[in-house]
Amino acid sequence: MILLDGRTLSEQIKSEITKEVKKEFLDKGKPAPHLAAVLVGEDPASQTYVANKEKSCREVGFTSSVYRYPENFTEKNLLEVVDFLNKDGDVDGFIVQLPLPKHINEHKIIERINPLKDVDGFHPVNVGRMMLNLPSFLPATPFGIMTLLERYHIETEGKHVVVLGRSNIVGTPISLMLSRKAKNANATVTLCHSYTPDIKKYTLDADILIVAMGKLGIVTADMVKKDAVVVDVGMHRIPAGDTKSGFRLKGDVVFDEVSKKCSAITPVPGGVGLMTIVSLLLNTLKASKKEIK
Ligand code: GUN
Repeated sequence: MILLDGRTLSEQIKSEITKEVKKEFLDKGKPAPHLAAVLVGEDPASQTYVANKEKSCREVGFTSSVYRYPENFTEKNLLEVVDFLNKDGDVDGFIVQLPLPKHINEHKIIERINPLKDVDGFHPVNVGRMMLNLPSFLPATPFGIMTLLERYHIETEGKHVVVLGRSNIVGTPISLMLSRKAKNANATVTLCHSYTPDIKKYTLDADILIVAMGKLGIVTADMVKKDAVVVDVGMHRIPAGDTKSGFRLKGDVVFDEVSKKCSAITPVPGGVGLMTIVSLLLNTLKASKKEIK
């Protein structure tokens, strides 16, 4: 069984980015790529994600800034922040951390972001361009999964990929990316969701199983074909007295039993999550080089 090690791979990609930042920006007297994040409210998972993003920016020599606002921040004010960042010539790309508080319309905020600074790849222009296979910012988690599969030389062409979960952030875009006529894609994709009867019927036929249901330990060994490749996107904080943070991360897949049956698997933590951050850095680099027109 091969462990698809997002930790080692993300470190390797970060060192490649660090070298490029030095050579193409700092040594030429250009300002470092700048990624900004907007965080509204106190959601602990979002706080961790944004803190990790800042740390990763520091590691590769990017400039990073975080705009923090309280839970009761208004939609109107948030739109003004987006307008400000759209215009700010010092910022190459930015993200608005999701989920937003209930009183703010997420779509309205995302649609206000300049697509050329939308390093999350969530704006309808980027989603549409991705669908048409045109240059665009790819959403970070699916982009990270694609990179992981590619760098581990996991063949996707002609394979049956089963995706569990159809979120806008993961399930839907990864289904599209893997089914496109493109290098490291060309797969036959089945997208299962809450209305799919008998999910096991599909998972048992999967050469590559991508699990993004957001349900702790939903995938067990009896649902997985022998020697399948399993990608676990789940991220659940389990309270734990014996860790510094007070919790432990677990995925949607029961790792201990599934890892004995599959040919390759991503661990949680140390798998897809770290690849997501690295993908955001790659998108920011792309934004700062004005590669998307
Ligand atoms: N919340 C969970 N994942 C993401 C992500 O990739 N980007 C943003 N902006 N919010 C998220």
